[in-house]
Amino acid sequence: MVKIGVVGSISTDFVVEAQRRPLVGETVYGNDFGTSFGGKGANQAVAAARLGGEVFMAGSVGDDSFGSSLLNNLQANNIDTQSVKKSQDMPSGSAIITIAEGDNSIIYVAGANDNYKPEDVDQIADLISTLDIVIVQNETPIDSIERLIEYCNHYKVPIIANPAPARAFSSKSLKKIDFLTPNETEFELLYPNEDMEDVLKKNANKLIITLGSKGAVFYDGNEILLVPSYKPSSIEDTTGAGDTFNGALAVAIANNFRLYEAIKFANLAASISIQKKGAQGGSPTIKQMREHEHYEEKWDIK
Ligand code: RIB
Repeated sequence: MVKIGVVGSISTDFVVEAQRRPLVGETVYGNDFGTSFGGKGANQAVAAARLGGEVFMAGSVGDDSFGSSLLNNLQANNIDTQSVKKSQDMPSGSAIITIAEGDNSIIYVAGANDNYKPEDVDQIADLISTLDIVIVQNETPIDSIERLIEYCNHYKVPIIANPAPARAFSSKSLKKIDFLTPNETEFELLYPNEDMEDVLKKNANKLIITLGSKGAVFYDGNEILLVPSYKPSSIEDTTGAGDTFNGALAVAIANNFRLYEAIKFANLAASISIQKKGAQGGSPTIKQMREHEHYEEKWDIK
């Protein structure tokens, strides 16, 4: 099994479904409401664990009933939570999600996720040195993310940074990231007024831009390659598809897949994930992947 560290957010998703979003000052009827497990970090950890990774999660939950459920859920997905701290007197992180008109919009309230400090990253330095790969997103304080990137560099452990939600990284940190996985909006924020092709060419085998239902692009040193997505048989909920992509990408890279194949593997996992409700609800197991008609024999997961 490959060893994967995920540093990031652990939240409860409060999900409402409606025909359309209300205008300012307007009330509309909703069709459904529910809570589910979320947080970009936790979603990526769950995706990696279901696909066969040995996953270690680091982050912070509140000292409330949500925090206990969030931890139980991670443990039920075989994730090591020893590095998740319980922050006293803070609410657990939450996300208010509206699903309408075929897509989602999210308000993220960090709560205890914002209490994951650079000193907490220091506490996991020894663990980092033993990992095959690390994943981080943008729902954690930036100084903690930057400390993590320093450790990964120091121990030569590859790191995937998923810059979601969109927020600028320092250029020093950007240089030290091994894989950067923005979507188009996040790309524009990170590289304002720059041409996508030019930036891809300056970041061979590092910058992977996800393009939703079109797939993902990267530059392999010779040419810009589009790795097409797989058409799902149905679309139930796209929330967390990017997280499943990143978790699966980490598993594939840690299993030494060539980057093109790693992205293909991640695309397949993401396409399966949107066929069920919830950010983690449809994230596939390695068994489900292997049974899929598009799974490739050469994808050897240890
Ligand atoms: O990427 C989807 C996730 O982002 C949701 O689970 C929610 O927690 C949000 O922050």
